Amino acid sequence: MNSVPPKSPENPDGLLAHARTLGEALALATRWLRSDASSDTAALDAQLLLAHVTGLSRATLLAFPERLIAQEAAERYAALVARRVAHEPVGYLTGHREFMGLDFLTDRRALIPRPETELLVETALVEVRSRLVETPDSPPLAADIGTGSGAIAIALARLEPRLEMVYATDVSPDALDLARENARRHGVDERVRFLQGDLLLPLPRRVDVLLANLPYIAPRDETLLADDVRRYEPSIALYGDDDGLGHLRRLFAQAPAFVADGAAIVLEFGYDQRRAVDLLARATFATAEVVIKTDYAGWDRLAVIHTSASFHA
Ligand SMILES: C[S@@+](CC[C@H](N)C(=O)[O-])C[C@H]1O[C@@H](n2cnc3c(N)ncnc32)[C@H](O)[C@@H]1O
Repeated sequence: MNSVPPKSPENPDGLLAHARTLGEALALATRWLRSDASSDTAALDAQLLLAHVTGLSRATLLAFPERLIAQEAAERYAALVARRVAHEPVGYLTGHREFMGLDFLTDRRALIPRPETELLVETALVEVRSRLVETPDSPPLAADIGTGSGAIAIALARLEPRLEMVYATDVSPDALDLARENARRHGVDERVRFLQGDLLLPLPRRVDVLLANLPYIAPRDETLLADDVRRYEPSIALYGDDDGLGHLRRLFAQAPAFVADGAAIVLEFGYDQRRAVDLLARATFATAEVVIKTDYAGWDRLAVIHTSASFHA
C-alpha cells in the first residue's frame, strides 16, 4: 500500500513527490518556494510549473484542486520545484514565456523577455502606425537591436502585419538561433531578418523605427542582481560595457549612419540612467525631441527620440 509520508516543513521535497491531488501539490510547492527560495511569486511559480507538468491550464488547476495527480507527475513536479528553489527561472524550467500575448520559447541561450519590455513594443507600434497613416504605401523599416529571443521584433511583426520588414540584430549566434525558432513558430520568418554582429553595423540600410533593449547593468552591480538572473541568464545579455551605458553610447555613435531622417528611436534603459540617456540623445541628435516614459511600476524605463525630418542635411 502507498503511504504518504507525514507532512513536515523540513522535508517538503519528499512530501511533494508524494502529493495525491493538484491542490495538495500546489499548497506544498507554494510553501516550499516561499520558505526556501524567499520567492514573492511563489504561488504563481507553483501554478506555472504544475501547469507545465500536467498540461492543464492554471484555471483548471485552481478550479479542480481535488483532482488526482499521477505519482510520476508529482515526482517530475517536485524535481522542477527543487530547481526553482535553487533560483532557476520559471521561463527556463518550462521553456516558455508569454510576451505581448504571444508564446515564446525561452532557454539559456537568451534573456527571458520581461513584462516591462512590452511598453517598448507598444510604443513602437504607435510609431509604426503613425507612419503607416502618413505613407500607407510605403511601410516603415524597423530594427530591433540586441534581439535575444526575438521577442520585440517578432511581436512587432505579428501585431502589425503591414510591416514588410523588421531587422533584428544580435552579437550572440546562440540567441539568434533561438530567435529564428521563435520567428518560425509565429510565422514571421519571412518578415523578420536576423543579422549577426555588433549593434547597428549589420543593418543593410537606414531604418525609420529603431528599437533596442540592450544590456545596461554595470558589471560592478553584479552582486545587486537577483540570483535567478545572475546565475542563470547569459552575461552577454545583462552587462553593459564600462558603467553599464557603454552599449548605449556606442549605439548613439553608430545611429546617425543607420537611421533615416525623421526616424524614431525607442530605447529601454536602467532605472537610474535617464539623465545619461537624455544627454546622449541630445548630443547625438541636437534638434531631436526626447520623451522619457515610465513603466507600470513608475520607474523611468524608455526614451523615445524623434529625430528631425532633415538631420542629415
Ligand atoms: C537585455 S538583452 C535583451 C534581449 C531582448 N531584446 C529582450 O528584450 O528580451 C540584450 C541582448 O543584446 C545582445 N547584445 C549584447 N551585446 C551586443 C552587441 N554588441 N551587439 C548586438 N547585440 C548585443 C545580447 O546578446 C542580448 O541578446
